[in-house]
Amino acid sequence: MGRYLDTVAVVTGARRGVGRIIAEHFLKEGALVVGLARGVSTIEDPRYRHFQADVGKIKDVQEAFAGIAKHFPTIHIVVNNAAVLTSQYSLILPAERAQAMVETNLLGTFYVSREAAKIMRKSNYGRIINIGSMAARLEPVGDSIYAACKAGVITLANVMAREFSAFNVTCNTLGITAIETDMLQQLPREKIDAIIKNLPISRYATGEDICHVVDFFASPKSSYITAQTVFLGGIH
Ligand SMILES: NC(=O)c1ccc[n+]([C@@H]2O[C@H](COP(=O)([O-])OP(=O)(O)OC[C@H]3O[C@@H](n4cnc5c(N)ncnc54)[C@H](OP(=O)(O)O)[C@@H]3O)[C@@H](O)[C@H]2O)c1
Repeated sequence: MGRYLDTVAVVTGARRGVGRIIAEHFLKEGALVVGLARGVSTIEDPRYRHFQADVGKIKDVQEAFAGIAKHFPTIHIVVNNAAVLTSQYSLILPAERAQAMVETNLLGTFYVSREAAKIMRKSNYGRIINIGSMAARLEPVGDSIYAACKAGVITLANVMAREFSAFNVTCNTLGITAIETDMLQQLPREKIDAIIKNLPISRYATGEDICHVVDFFASPKSSYITAQTVFLGGIH
């Protein structure tokens, strides 16, 4: 208990799935947590504040961060978790679904990291953590744009790591494997089971697996850890 006392953490996509697991973990450990999502809050906690924002829309992100700046002296941690997925062969993937993935998964990560870094620069401290995916390495059929976006968030973190190191902001990526969420429900279970069976560690991820690496990247002790990607389950 108390790992994140006096810590302000922003989590995108905090109202469901992995984002909610991470937000609740931060709360349990004493943080003040700001959640961003398109929908209304699903977390009831006096230390939780929710902003409805589409991370793929620059105006929404700027408004949310203006609101955050009004209520909090700084931001210590940002977890870029919000993402959408449409898994479909490239030949028939609707253009608007491809665009939605680029806007949310890639540009959303860019917009949120940039607004957060403007605040972090003033306090000369910050931890930016992108939630990536095994898809970036495994390049599954049907996930051309999704996998490209997830490879893209690794690159974003690595370049931002160079740009933000002058003000002690680290940028890292956690590439997660399959975990039971609404997103996973969209995919054929046989496809996911076959992928998981071939991992060096053949099981689904748990919230604990994810929060363990988030804690590592988010720790003040990880000041010399930046531009790194950790994959769960033995993917490399
Ligand atoms: N689940 C898996 O097996 C798996 C595997 C590998 C990687 N990942 C990655 O893990 C992360 C979390 O996935 P998940 O499975 O928890 O997904 P999820 O259950 O579908 O939840 C996605 C969350 O992101 C939010 N979101 C989506 N688009 C948004 C937008 N444009 N603006 C703001 N918020 C938005 C959603 O908010 P609303 O509720 O308001 O829509 C929701 O809270 C994603 O980055 C995903 O790519 C997941």
